[in-house]
Amino acid sequence: MQTNRACLSIASIMFIAWGIATMPIPAAIAADSFPPVSDLPASKQLPDPLVMLSGERIASREAWEAKRKPELAQLFQHYMYGYFPKEKITVTGRVDREDQEYFGGKATKRQVTLDLGHKTLPKINLLVVVPNKRTGPAPVFLGINFCGNFAVLPDADIPLTDAWVYDSCAGQQNNRATEASRGKQTDMWAIEQTIDRGYAVALFHTADVDPDKNDFSDGVHPHFVPDGQRRNDDDWGTIAAWAWAMSRAVDYLVTDKDLDAKRIAAVGHSRNGKTSLLAGAFDERIALAIPHQAGCGGTAPSRGTVGESVTRINTSFPHWFCGNFKQFNDRPERLPFDQHCLVAMMAPRPVLLSNAVEDQWANPSGQFEVLQGARPVYKLYGADDLDDAKMPPLGKLIDGKLGYYIREGKHSMTREDWKVFCDFADKHFGGK
Ligand code: GCU
Repeated sequence: MQTNRACLSIASIMFIAWGIATMPIPAAIAADSFPPVSDLPASKQLPDPLVMLSGERIASREAWEAKRKPELAQLFQHYMYGYFPKEKITVTGRVDREDQEYFGGKATKRQVTLDLGHKTLPKINLLVVVPNKRTGPAPVFLGINFCGNFAVLPDADIPLTDAWVYDSCAGQQNNRATEASRGKQTDMWAIEQTIDRGYAVALFHTADVDPDKNDFSDGVHPHFVPDGQRRNDDDWGTIAAWAWAMSRAVDYLVTDKDLDAKRIAAVGHSRNGKTSLLAGAFDERIALAIPHQAGCGGTAPSRGTVGESVTRINTSFPHWFCGNFKQFNDRPERLPFDQHCLVAMMAPRPVLLSNAVEDQWANPSGQFEVLQGARPVYKLYGADDLDDAKMPPLGKLIDGKLGYYIREGKHSMTREDWKVFCDFADKHFGGK
C-alpha cells in the first residue's frame, strides 16, 4: 500500500514544495504503478536518457520537459532518494548579526536565521558573506558544510553550533562542537579568496537539517513523519532532506537584494556534492552546480565497477537514500536511470564534475562517462559543448556546460579547487 505522500503528483512537488513553476504539468504516474524492481529491464549500459519507461523515444526539448524530465523526477524519488515533501513551506529570514566591514572592509557578513514556519521544523543558520565592491547584485555560491558555520572562518562572532557534529570534526566531545574546531575548515571553504573573485558565499550546516546518523528521529524528519509512524520505502532519506534545505536557503537568497537571484551556484563536497547535484536537478533557480568529488549516489554511475558500489553505500549509510534503493544492491543494472539522467535534469544549465586522481572511491573516470551520457539531453537545447571524448589531463578544466576537472591529490576540497570553481562560474556567469 502506498500513502498519499507517495502518490504525490509531479505538479505539487514542483509548484508547492519548491514554490516555483518551472515544469509543465505532466500526467502523474501513480506510485503504485511503478514496476517492482525484478520487472525492470536489466541494462549493463547507461540507459538512454531520452527513452521513457514505456519505451517511447523523446525527440524534442518540449517532450523532454513535458514528459521525460518529470518522469525522471518521479523515478529518482521513488527508487533512490525518496519523495520530497509536498507541504508548502514559507521561509522567513531574520538577520541576527551583520558586519559591514568584514575582511578589512571587503565584505559584509550576515548571520541569518531561516525560520521554516513551524515549531516542529528546525531553524537553519545561514552564514552569508557578500563582497562590498561590486557593480550590482553578486553571484553567490550556496554550500552546505560538515562541521558548522563556526568552523568555516576563524571568527569568534559566529556561535558554536549546538547541533550534532561528526567525530571527524576536530575538537568535538560526544558529538558536540567545542572551540577547538573553530575555523578548522577555513581552507576548505576559502571564503575570503572567493570574495576577492567577486562572489558571495552562503553556507549552512547539514546537521541543522538532519544530523548524519542512521535514524529519522531528529532534524526535519519528525515534522513530516511523526514519531511512531512507520516510514515508507519511498520516504526521503538524508540526502534528499539536505537538498530540500538547499532549496529553502534559495527561497531566502532570492529575496536578498545584494545577491543575483539568476546566478546562484550550488556547491558541495562528497556527500554534500551528491546533495548539491540533487538540489540543482530539482530546483531550476539553481543556475549552476558543482558537485565536487561526489561519487556514488551523486555523480558516479551506480552501474560503475570502480570505487564505491550501491551495496556498499546502502550498507555504510543506510539513511542516505530511500528504502527502495536497497533493492538495487547487487543489481544496479535494473535501475531505470543512472546518474547521467540526474545531470541531464540540469540541462541546459552548467554543471562541473570535479575530482582528484587519488580519489578512486568516487570513480572519476566513471563520472566522465556520466557526463557523456547526459549529452543527448544538452544537445536538445543546443548546449552539448562537450567535444572531448577522453578525460582531460590533470589540472586542465573542461569549462563547457558539461564541465569536468581532475587534479592531483586526494579526497578533499581546497583553495585550489575554489579557484577552479570560480573560473568555471566566471565562464558561465559572465561579468561580476
Ligand atoms: C564516504 C562515502 C562516500 C562519501 C564520502 C564523503 O567515503 O563512502 O560516498 O562521498 O564518505 O562524504 O566524504
